[in-house]
Amino acid sequence: MPDNSRTLTIALSKGRILDDTLPLLEHANLVPKEDVRKTRKLMVDGPTINGTMVRFLIIRAADVCTYVERGAADIGISGRDLLLEHRPHVYEPLDLKIGVCRLCVCGPKELVEKGAPKEGSRIRIATKYDYLAEQHFLKLSVQAEIIHLYGSMELAPLVGMAERIIDVVETGNTLRANGLVEETTMFDISSRLIVNPASFATKKALIQPIIENLREAVDRNSAS
Ligand code: PRP
Repeated sequence: MPDNSRTLTIALSKGRILDDTLPLLEHANLVPKEDVRKTRKLMVDGPTINGTMVRFLIIRAADVCTYVERGAADIGISGRDLLLEHRPHVYEPLDLKIGVCRLCVCGPKELVEKGAPKEGSRIRIATKYDYLAEQHFLKLSVQAEIIHLYGSMELAPLVGMAERIIDVVETGNTLRANGLVEETTMFDISSRLIVNPASFATKKALIQPIIENLREAVDRNSAS
């Protein structure tokens, strides 16, 4: 096992959230030495803070909480949707107020206009949020068959594979382009700073100021 005591590892999500993450990190003096939006490297060096080397992992959004929970990364940035779905044992000290969207049940317009599924009815739901879907329909006493997909959920009702989907909605453009509408908002979503509990205990002197600097950056963003 590598000695992680002299490094601070930060797990970042690939994709569109990265553009909003980098200015927040910059405010906390956490600037990667390479352009993480372009490099094919998965691990990129950062600054050295009080003798501790910072490094960044550039990974898929759904994997961030796994790296942080297992201590392979000390801190990470993850969407609340993924935290609710995977329920990792991590601290969640800060709402970064980026990646703001909502997790919704959606379906074809004509179907949604007929009303929500009735108690005891059976429906097929396409989603990557299997746990949240199961919990949601359990509460409504609707028998939901969960069809797990990895992306482009909006296609499933169009080809008759599912009646509804559960997915994140930001602008609503993807729904509209595919003739779907929102039926129920399940959760408001944004990106959260997450911290491995053991790292927080052993590297508190390093991690606490980072949290405070990021909090300041978030407040500054909210004010502007
Ligand atoms: C996400 C999500 C929706 C879309 C919502 O997909 O799964 O499809 O964005 O955004 P909108 O409301 O602004 O249209 P993403 O583009 O991340 O790709 P994915 O389907 O592969 O997850």
